[in-house]
Amino acid sequence: MAVEQRPEIEALLAEERRFPPDPTFAAQANARADLYEEAERDFEGFWARLARERLDWSKPFETTLEWDLPFAKWFVGGQLNVAYNCVDRHVERGLGDKVAYHWIGEPGDTRTLTYADLKREVSKAANALLELGVRTGDRVAIYMPMIPELPIAMLACARLGAPHTVVFGGFSSEALAGRIDDAQAKVLITADGGWRRGKPVNLKGAADVALQSSSSIENVLVVRRVAEAGEPVEMRPGRDVWWHEIVDRQSEECPPVPVDSEHLLYLLYTSGTTAKPKGIVHTSAGYLLGTSYTHWAIFDVKPDDVYWCAADIGWVTGHSYIVYGPLANATTGILYEGAPDTPAWDRWWQIVEDYKVTILYTAPTAIRAFMKQGSDFPARHDLSSIRMLGSVGEPINPEAWLWYHEHIGGGRAPIADTWWQTETGMILITPLPGITTTKPGSATFPFPGVDADVVDGEGRSVPPGGGGYLVLKRPWPAMLRGIYGDPERYRQTYWSRFEGVYFAGDGAKRDQEGYFWLLGRVDDVMNVAGHRISTIEVESALVDHPAVAEAAVVGKNDPVTGQAIFAFVILRTHAEPSDALIRELREHVAKVIGPIARPKYLLLTPDLPKTRSGKIMRRLLRDVAEGRPLGDTTTLADAGVVELIRSSTGREEE
Ligand code: WT7
Repeated sequence: MAVEQRPEIEALLAEERRFPPDPTFAAQANARADLYEEAERDFEGFWARLARERLDWSKPFETTLEWDLPFAKWFVGGQLNVAYNCVDRHVERGLGDKVAYHWIGEPGDTRTLTYADLKREVSKAANALLELGVRTGDRVAIYMPMIPELPIAMLACARLGAPHTVVFGGFSSEALAGRIDDAQAKVLITADGGWRRGKPVNLKGAADVALQSSSSIENVLVVRRVAEAGEPVEMRPGRDVWWHEIVDRQSEECPPVPVDSEHLLYLLYTSGTTAKPKGIVHTSAGYLLGTSYTHWAIFDVKPDDVYWCAADIGWVTGHSYIVYGPLANATTGILYEGAPDTPAWDRWWQIVEDYKVTILYTAPTAIRAFMKQGSDFPARHDLSSIRMLGSVGEPINPEAWLWYHEHIGGGRAPIADTWWQTETGMILITPLPGITTTKPGSATFPFPGVDADVVDGEGRSVPPGGGGYLVLKRPWPAMLRGIYGDPERYRQTYWSRFEGVYFAGDGAKRDQEGYFWLLGRVDDVMNVAGHRISTIEVESALVDHPAVAEAAVVGKNDPVTGQAIFAFVILRTHAEPSDALIRELREHVAKVIGPIARPKYLLLTPDLPKTRSGKIMRRLLRDVAEGRPLGDTTTLADAGVVELIRSSTGREEE
């Protein structure tokens, strides 16, 4: 991406609306404005103070940070146990009866787990792992639906210092096998299935296929979730063990194992630019501090809050902001197993009403899916308990931001648009509620202690108003420590593009007031006849049209202009597809951004290829646009979508 002014972006940056903090909210906010100054004066001292105040140590640390670029060690010399910090210490301080999770199964069954319940269940599960031969340092793979045993399994691993690698339940056998192999996991924890849109998802069957081609697994621990409803589950003698048969009979006592600050807590695999996913390495103390402190400050979490991060635990959002961060803060959380449209599109709003949810954290893609269904669904429910909202995963277009603000937040709740990555472990760019004046579509400012910058192709800082690459200029406690087994790839991917700084792979622009506007991955930025146009801007313009529910835009190779804009558009249910409408949409974009942004191709489609976390797979759309064979589709939520798009009848236009 070059650094010249990009007039196209001005459309997004012309977003004039501002939402200053509400004084009543500000008066009770956890975050304080002076955190920025404290952290700026001495960022190591800032994190060291928080580490001493907020974590319980078995052995205090001696050195806050050892930075041997690009390898960081935080809180060196210290020892702690992550599960102890997330569970036991709360029970010891009298919070045993506090609810840790309200769990809601998709069919409507429910379960409540207090911190005392969690301590008991985690200890028993850890004892079961010990019986299966798992020792400190052994890797455990987890492939589960959103049931209470999932966080219990993760915490059981953490209790023993046995790193876990959670593989999202929507991944294929092949993807699971690859991750198990790379991690050389000894035990796999799975379930016979989970409920999704009224049907059981056969996880154990997929796991069995994965295990045909991976050799490191000695035992499979299987939670019974759908067996009563489905086919009998095949258990291989000597390898497979039912969770209830081994866990239920264990002792409720299992001493947490103190581990070094830098002990491997987990691996989480994420797609890179090559076919082989990267095992992102997260360690113990810094990660726990970074996630729990950001959770507390950004979501303004108070003892009585009912907090719901509606992600799946199989993604980093779930690791950091359903499990480790919230539990370290003794938060009461919601866990929902199923789909947002089951049995109807108001399922979430029913849950908010039933449990009086006060904080909701979700993704723009979900917000737009709700928008598409109309505001009647949330309007049917009492959402007055909501006092704080969050967004994550992709840039949020101002229309979705405003809809979220009005129809979910009742026009009162602050919205934190939080930028971060699997690699960063914790939120890094975000408003602080009660302090930051927000602008719809902007993630605002770096979190205290975080040094982010926008640089040009040579790594020079771009002045306010300019666009470029987002980089991070100093280490932060929850940062990735590497790519598992591949330090060279770690250095190459993140630390070689610019000297001495972390390259996030995102485009960003700062406006005259220093607000950060995330513009999507840099590989999603198009160059049309020398004009740089971010896919998000065109999408934002399309979604701005009343007939459009969702849009995805890619650059298609063009012999004359370098790239041409190809837009895939999902219409709202009320809109009638027609050539006239297609023309109107192209004109609309030209009107909102400028004629250079008018899509050359516009295809009406019933669906878009997405990962299970809801991220649109532009790579596949580019394949469709170019008419070439598809690349890796293993991370696709629904493999049929691409064929559906290929056979769409909505017209292309010159
Ligand atoms: C990429 C990381 C972080 C948890 C979920 C995704 C994009 C994430 C935002 C945001 C604009 C965002 C970036 C980033 N992204 N949050 N608030 N605004 N873009 O984790 O799969 O590792 O993806 O998601 O492009 O690089 P991930």
